[in-house]
Amino acid sequence: MPVLNSVAALTEEIAAWRRDFHLHPELDYDVHRTAGVVAEKLKAFGCDEVVAGIGRTGVVGVIRGRLPGDKVIGMRADMDALPIEEASGKPWSSTVPGKMHACGHDGHTAMLLGAARYLAETRNFAGTAVVIFQPAEEGGGGGKAMVEDGLMDRFGVQEVYGMHNMPGLPVGHFATRTGPLMAAADRFTIEIEGRGGHAARPHDSIDTVVIASQIVQALQTIVARNVDPLECAVLSTTYMRAGDAFNVLPQTAELRGTVRTFKPAVQDMIERRMGEIAHGVATMHGATARLVYVRGYPPTLNHAAQTAFAAQVAASVSGADAVNTEAAPVMGAEDFSYMLEARPGAFVFVGNGATAGLHHPAYDFDDSLIPVGVSYWARLVETAMPAA
Ligand code: NI
Repeated sequence: MPVLNSVAALTEEIAAWRRDFHLHPELDYDVHRTAGVVAEKLKAFGCDEVVAGIGRTGVVGVIRGRLPGDKVIGMRADMDALPIEEASGKPWSSTVPGKMHACGHDGHTAMLLGAARYLAETRNFAGTAVVIFQPAEEGGGGGKAMVEDGLMDRFGVQEVYGMHNMPGLPVGHFATRTGPLMAAADRFTIEIEGRGGHAARPHDSIDTVVIASQIVQALQTIVARNVDPLECAVLSTTYMRAGDAFNVLPQTAELRGTVRTFKPAVQDMIERRMGEIAHGVATMHGATARLVYVRGYPPTLNHAAQTAFAAQVAASVSGADAVNTEAAPVMGAEDFSYMLEARPGAFVFVGNGATAGLHHPAYDFDDSLIPVGVSYWARLVETAMPAA
């Protein structure tokens, strides 16, 4: 049972919406044009309710099936682009300098709109479908903002599903797993204070460059020596700043970076060890160090029953051979995690074929996956809440 015929017939039109979003990328919560187009289309499709301004610029559409039912299924797409100068060379390349849809959220939004149109036309289900369009996935926490704005309670959402395209996975293929699929993403800053002075008189100074270098090295022992070898973690120092001159030992130095984990116990341990190491190394040299550790998106944790259901729906679209239910977790992060903290659900990857990678200037969403993604959404609703 492949792609739905009535969905395949809509593909060109959905691709045109996608390319229009691609021409006009918007960042973070400033997705006013995109959200406006989404709300207008949802109303034109005949959704029973269309509410804008959830989580600042999020949009929600409610579609009731032709039969009543107690179930309410939420489906989420993201609308924001990235601060990247586009180099895809496509005719629908970004018209906005320095901004582009380099993560395919234009495609995610267009596919969920396509599903909304199909579901509003056919209504071949018993219950309620809720389509959720969020701003600010790329670091701004738009998913969290929508949940905090009452998204789940206000619309009675009981289960929630999300989808992201995946370059390198063939078009038509799906990948997911139960449990941790994507990592928690935290950021840190370490401020080191020593004693500045003349570079030719190091004995009169406390050299923050040497101390910062030792801290960077010592931090690498956390993943190597403190994390259980059967667990996953990344600690990357990505920024070092100290001094401005050839002949001055700087008074201060600063380090920044990111930590990725899947389990709270590993996350807690890493934060604790980072503080001990920064403080310990600084003290050893007579300096001080202050760790500022900021927790970002939590891990994306798929619920078992909903993941099995999502895989079953994906298999009904693409065949069981095209669905990998044991996908390797990735250390990237996703703020759909906040929705999965609020309600049971599942996140799946859908193949974008042999394109440039996500967040690359040459990336483009592959329109040939539109009928696959839209059919997945349509079948998810019709299978979860059958009208027969
Ligand atoms: Ni993305």
